[in-house]
Amino acid sequence: MLAERISRELGNVPFGIPFTKRFPDGELYVRVGGRLEGEDVVLVQSTRTDRDVVELFLLEDAVREAGARRLYLVVPYFGYARQDRRFFPGEPVSARSLARHAAFDADAIVTVDLHSPITLPSFGKPAFEASGIPAIARRLKERPVDLLVSPDKGGIERVKRMAAILDRPWMALEKKRIDSERVELYLPSELPMELSGKFVVILDDVISTGGTVVEAAKLLKRRGVGAITAACTHGLFLKDAFERIKAVTDDMYSTDTLDNPAEKASVAPDIAQILLTQCAKL
Ligand code: R5P
Repeated sequence: MLAERISRELGNVPFGIPFTKRFPDGELYVRVGGRLEGEDVVLVQSTRTDRDVVELFLLEDAVREAGARRLYLVVPYFGYARQDRRFFPGEPVSARSLARHAAFDADAIVTVDLHSPITLPSFGKPAFEASGIPAIARRLKERPVDLLVSPDKGGIERVKRMAAILDRPWMALEKKRIDSERVELYLPSELPMELSGKFVVILDDVISTGGTVVEAAKLLKRRGVGAITAACTHGLFLKDAFERIKAVTDDMYSTDTLDNPAEKASVAPDIAQILLTQCAKL
């Protein structure tokens, strides 16, 4: 569990799991244990589901009620982040709304690989973004990687950062989204190397329906690559995404921002580093 790993990275500070239950009418009940009066508390809660969002608000209030001195909120996976602007009239900027509300009771916020950095100021409090790249790189260093691939242009900075750490070449595919589950991918006009027989890593921030990684893997296979690893920070793996990706790749790596079957790299050291340096200065 990521929260426990963070507590170890912070020097084995006490770690606890709040008690939660549902009332008969479906409302959520939470209770935090331990002595929190005057303490600096790190609350770790992703916002993957609507239940997570309510749980986050209730836990923040519970921590404050228990007399905590400071509340550092760690949101490993910040859900609702993709609606980070109003695309059509009448829509909300969901990411901004959630950020504002989540930050209400917090002194500082730490999150990991936000969909877009434009959301960071919306917290309205000191907010820091860790990256999943170092965690995945720590694992990929053990592998004979030839080429790093971003499935879209939006991931260029991410793949470049990984390429710099591993000292390997990179390329970005062209992505055309057909609908929320289907994409079309194309190779760039100039390839950094001959792909035949190469060990390729497809790197994305989120694997959701798996459509992007599956299409990227199929495209690379048609060009004769030798082995494909799919890697991401946030492994949502909706429906049968894990099995569909497994069928067209040789390996998968995800960080532990969300519980999932490909969780092989931990962002705990990167989050702890921010808590110990940036947040401790506040
Ligand atoms: C898109 O901007 C993201 O970087 C991911 O490529 C996308 O969210 C992946 O979604 P899916 O797994 O549903 O293709």
